Amino acid sequence: MDRRITKALFPVAGLGTRFLPATKSIPKEIMTLVDRPLVQYAIDEAREAGIEKFIFVTSRGKGALEDYFDHAPELEQELLGKGRDALLGELRRTNMDSGAIAYVRQHRPLGLGHAVWCARHLIAPDETFAVILPDDVIAADKPCLLQMLEVHRETGGSMVAAMEVPPEKTPAYGVLDVREETGRTISVKGMIEKPETGKNPSNFAVIGRYILSPRILDHLNAARPVAGVEMQLTNAIATEIQRGGDVFGYRFRGQRFDCGSKAGFLQATVAFGLSRPDLREEFSDFLARMVGKPGVA
Ligand code: G1P
Repeated sequence: MDRRITKALFPVAGLGTRFLPATKSIPKEIMTLVDRPLVQYAIDEAREAGIEKFIFVTSRGKGALEDYFDHAPELEQELLGKGRDALLGELRRTNMDSGAIAYVRQHRPLGLGHAVWCARHLIAPDETFAVILPDDVIAADKPCLLQMLEVHRETGGSMVAAMEVPPEKTPAYGVLDVREETGRTISVKGMIEKPETGKNPSNFAVIGRYILSPRILDHLNAARPVAGVEMQLTNAIATEIQRGGDVFGYRFRGQRFDCGSKAGFLQATVAFGLSRPDLREEFSDFLARMVGKPGVA
């Protein structure tokens, strides 16, 4: 069976309330990490993993996100005229092929499971697909999704990115119930969304990269949205395990930044700023001078 996975889904419908007032007029996913919107990091990771079709689950007020993926002929013309080839290349790299990108609306904020369910008609009945949460930015030599796809070729089933976190942090995540660990691959016998303190079955948290069997959509479909109740993706994956489907966690190599939080976004800004050859020297000098100072008023 050809297990090549070419479709990825990006849930980007969230209101971004943690970043108000900035997100009053710009989608959170357009917020800039160094000089690129957050969502560009997710797109780059997907492309490097061989993804060719991109589905965005959006909501009201996300127009700027759709515009971002459009071609910008006037800008390109301007850069071409001025011979600014490097910048032109950068700009063109963000262009998406016509038809490669689709948008579907999540009309009500009913959770991650609901966002994935909203795209159900765009996934073929036998199609395994990827999900990337752009808030989780992962710096890695080999992109996280590519690491997972390489292993998934051997394992099949469904797979989630996993990371060990301190036990007191587990209530913020989906958490794995571990059957067996083999190297970086974890066979999973259950999954629980945001367990109460002390009730975490392990310290392995789910991070925002998923490879999902289309059966997960059936489980979401069976759950059906109920007014006011969030549909958890974690619960649909747990159902898949109960029905005998294989689900794996994969301990990826790399550093994850929680860009859904202000502290995480700042940390990512520092890390990505320092990794840029054009900024490293000036920026690290500045940081060295700032450390120990109380900061600006
Ligand atoms: C979502 C998922 C959770 C996962 C997390 C990773 O939670 O529901 O299972 O661990 O992303 O970032 P959220 O952070 O949207 O509350």
